[in-house]
Amino acid sequence: MSEPVFREMRESDLPVLFEIQCDAEAQKMAAFTSTANDREAYLDKHRRLLADDRLVRVVVELDGEIVGSAAAFPLGEELNVTYWIKREFWGRGLAGAALAAVLEQVTVRPVFASAASDNEASMRVLEKGGFKRVGRERAFAEARGQEIEEVMFRLE
Ligand SMILES: CC(C)(COP(=O)(O)OP(=O)(O)OC[C@H]1O[C@@H](n2cnc3c(N)ncnc32)[C@H](O)[C@@H]1OP(=O)(O)O)[C@@H](O)C(=O)NCCC(=O)NCCS
Repeated sequence: MSEPVFREMRESDLPVLFEIQCDAEAQKMAAFTSTANDREAYLDKHRRLLADDRLVRVVVELDGEIVGSAAAFPLGEELNVTYWIKREFWGRGLAGAALAAVLEQVTVRPVFASAASDNEASMRVLEKGGFKRVGRERAFAEARGQEIEEVMFRLE
């Protein structure tokens, strides 16, 4: 298998990225994500996001196949990061490398992130990327249908 490629996201990537995020197990893990699985709504939303030049959006390709993505996006006054890897490709360091590819393009600091307090893999990705835990709060998690604990992270 060849090395992963991290490149800028294009509109033509969106249908594959939609399919990747239609994974009930991954949605439960991410917790703070939509479970609507509405293709047109997803494509509309992400086409608009792609036109916003404050965002950095990277796709991960392995042997020419799109296997995930990572992004930095403004949330209020803060810049946040997120990532999502197709389940068959978990545990190969792809999320960590995709996050690093995004952070290379982001000059602003601090950068923020959060994860469900039981999303150990995501918290490990953030800590390996240099993020520090800065707090916890309870918030409604759409994919769990209930309020859960969220851990907040910050990269200086
Ligand atoms: C979270 C996610 C992005 C991780 O992707 P990945 O490519 O498997 O991540 P990486 O391989 O870069 O790193 C995962 C790290 O977590 C560790 N890990 C995985 N599961 C773990 C667990 N249950 N407990 C502790 N550590 C765990 C891995 O060992 C690895 O650490 P290491 O490199 O020190 O061994 C992926 O599972 C995913 O897309 N999940 C669904 C979407 C999601 O949760 N996104 C994040 C929203 S906050």
